[in-house]
Amino acid sequence: MKILLTGANGQLGQSLTTILPNGPDFYWIRTDIQDLDISNLEAINRYLTINQADAIVNCAAYTAVDRAEEEPELASQVNTIGPANLANAAFSRQIPLIHISTDYVFPGTGHQPYRESDPTGTNTVYGRTKLEGEEAVRETGGRSVIIRTSWLYSEFGHNFVRTMLRLGQERDSIGVVNDQRGCPTYAADLAQAVIRVLKEFVSKPEWPSKPIVYHFCNSGEATWYDMAAEVMHVAGLPCAVIPVSSDEYPQKAKRPAFSVMDNSLFSKTFNFEIAYWKESLTRCLRNLI
Ligand SMILES: NC(=O)c1ccc[n+]([C@@H]2O[C@H](COP(=O)([O-])OP(=O)(O)OC[C@H]3O[C@@H](n4cnc5c(N)ncnc54)[C@H](OP(=O)(O)O)[C@@H]3O)[C@@H](O)[C@H]2O)c1
Repeated sequence: MKILLTGANGQLGQSLTTILPNGPDFYWIRTDIQDLDISNLEAINRYLTINQADAIVNCAAYTAVDRAEEEPELASQVNTIGPANLANAAFSRQIPLIHISTDYVFPGTGHQPYRESDPTGTNTVYGRTKLEGEEAVRETGGRSVIIRTSWLYSEFGHNFVRTMLRLGQERDSIGVVNDQRGCPTYAADLAQAVIRVLKEFVSKPEWPSKPIVYHFCNSGEATWYDMAAEVMHVAGLPCAVIPVSSDEYPQKAKRPAFSVMDNSLFSKTFNFEIAYWKESLTRCLRNLI
């Protein structure tokens, strides 16, 4: 299976190609914005004509949640037009697409873990553009799988865990928000989930008959404070973590207070055991320290 991978230099893109290097069964055609801009349909079609992929995995996104408030047009080009283009190109070639979405599509005002069928709704530009990207993939039809994930971290790029490790080495104490709850997700675990779905495409050539949505995040739930405290604990850093409220840490885009997602449908459908967030965080930290 030759897979066109977009956003290959991002956290998930790098995790995928590290976990599953090119071999006889799977071969990644790695692209990022400098090779293939997903907001350009003509470029995608040209690229696919030359490279003849059997599937597409879209890891490309505009992920700067606060900056998106000031650059809605650019965020929309990448998060809405991009997936629409990829879905269109996949549909016309009858090849499957995996598209990654986010917990930000939910209003974040609930108290029960969000299920795939729960109503969406969002106040942020990032959330709106990602939701419109999902809708475009759904409306196009074809063999598409949308995976919503949350609070992604990895050994690569900028992320909360790497920031906490750095600050934990530089400071004696740090204030971290304790009134937002979500599911931390190790990109390596998400990468395994994506690979599982790719294998399903191979073993079931007609599946899925129409676009389908799954939630994939590590099990359990946490606040950013819980996560920071766990980073300091596992890394053995003597930095005190002090709980603060979102009001004390104002950000341009209002963060959802509750964005915990229910990952049981993915786990049941694919017979896939999903690790508890602290266990995955420890695995990632072992590679970082
Ligand atoms: N990070 C999170 O906490 C989080 C949480 C929930 C869901 N997600 C979703 O998970 C997916 C993977 O996230 P991630 O953290 O791996 O993202 P990431 O590290 O920000 O990587 C995204 C990649 O896409 C590239 N890109 C931007 N615009 C592009 C374009 N027009 N064409 C092609 N490539 C483009 C980026 O390049 P530049 O760096 O040069 O812009 C970057 O290399 C995304 O769909 C994201 O929305 C992420």
